[in-house]
Amino acid sequence: MAFDNGIIDLRSDTVTRPTPEIRKAMYEAEVGDDFYRDDPSVNKLQEKAAELFNREAALLVPSGTLGNSISVFTQSNSGQEIIIESKSHLWRCESTHLAMISRVTTQLVPGDKGMIDPAILPSYLRGGELEEPRTALVATETPHNGAGGTIIPPENITAISSFAKSNQLAFHIDGARIFNATVELGISPAEYISDATSVMFSLSKGLCCPQGSMIVGSKDFIEEARRWRLTLGGHLRQGGILAAPGIIALDTMIDRLKEDNERARYLAQALLEDGLAELDLDTVQTNMFRGNFSPICSDANDLTEFLARKGIMVWIADDQSVRLVTHYWTNMDDIEKFLSALREYAQTQ
Ligand SMILES: Cc1ncc(COP(=O)(O)O)c(C=O)c1O
Repeated sequence: MAFDNGIIDLRSDTVTRPTPEIRKAMYEAEVGDDFYRDDPSVNKLQEKAAELFNREAALLVPSGTLGNSISVFTQSNSGQEIIIESKSHLWRCESTHLAMISRVTTQLVPGDKGMIDPAILPSYLRGGELEEPRTALVATETPHNGAGGTIIPPENITAISSFAKSNQLAFHIDGARIFNATVELGISPAEYISDATSVMFSLSKGLCCPQGSMIVGSKDFIEEARRWRLTLGGHLRQGGILAAPGIIALDTMIDRLKEDNERARYLAQALLEDGLAELDLDTVQTNMFRGNFSPICSDANDLTEFLARKGIMVWIADDQSVRLVTHYWTNMDDIEKFLSALREYAQTQ
């Protein structure tokens, strides 16, 4: 099921369009003014999200970036330091807000498939010496986008969580696609996040809402985050228009993410078996992965242009690998069409 215009878009799950049910929910949404906390749809969504993660409260924010930004800002002071994995979205794509809004310094920890080794964390902790910034927060990302959608194992999250707790640090999880991980692990989001003090997850991306993310945490954290959301202009007056689809997403769109994960795995296996790409099958754990198409092309741009002429869109990452992402709008027919196009391209080379 490509988009209505026939385009098969494998660049990202951020390209997903609302399902008919989600569009209807937006149209029919009951709304109020969330500044006065009387938008019933926003309130219902926030209660649902808090319950799902077994936290006291949740807050709807316009984007994942703002959710991460507010979470760091609320749990650190200017001049403090945060520990993050070196390929995390927070670093690769969001370091500007760390510098300009939170005004924190960063300790970058090398990761293995995005996973931080908890044993090395104590050596990144600072603040004991007069000239050092004090560490305020540690963050992890799961699934890990930069590592190709890898799932951070629950025991790793638990270990980071206890490191944070025993050092009085905040622990933030960038869980933009967290449900792609939990459906695969077969555990509840609440169990997965251990004692994280804040979690951000997206309603857009695989869940198909047009916009919006949530942050969850303690009542005090969310109250403070609400203040900074307003300061940064991220409050949502008739937020129900975005919250109503969010409710549908949490009720009906989570379990089906397993299909997206399975399609990605099917595609990765087919690429390998047909000799169309080189990739590490061990990293194919959710709905996205990266492949190197050097077996069939010397220039990834040439391949993407060929595919674009056939109405298939893929994205070249900075290391020249091609990122492929499956989602609601890419069914098995689309995957097969993509594979046929690649076989055709290989023959022209
Ligand atoms: C892991 C991760 N975190 C955060 C974000 C930011 O989300 P948004 O685009 O809603 O700001 C993204 C976006 O792709 C992401 O992949």
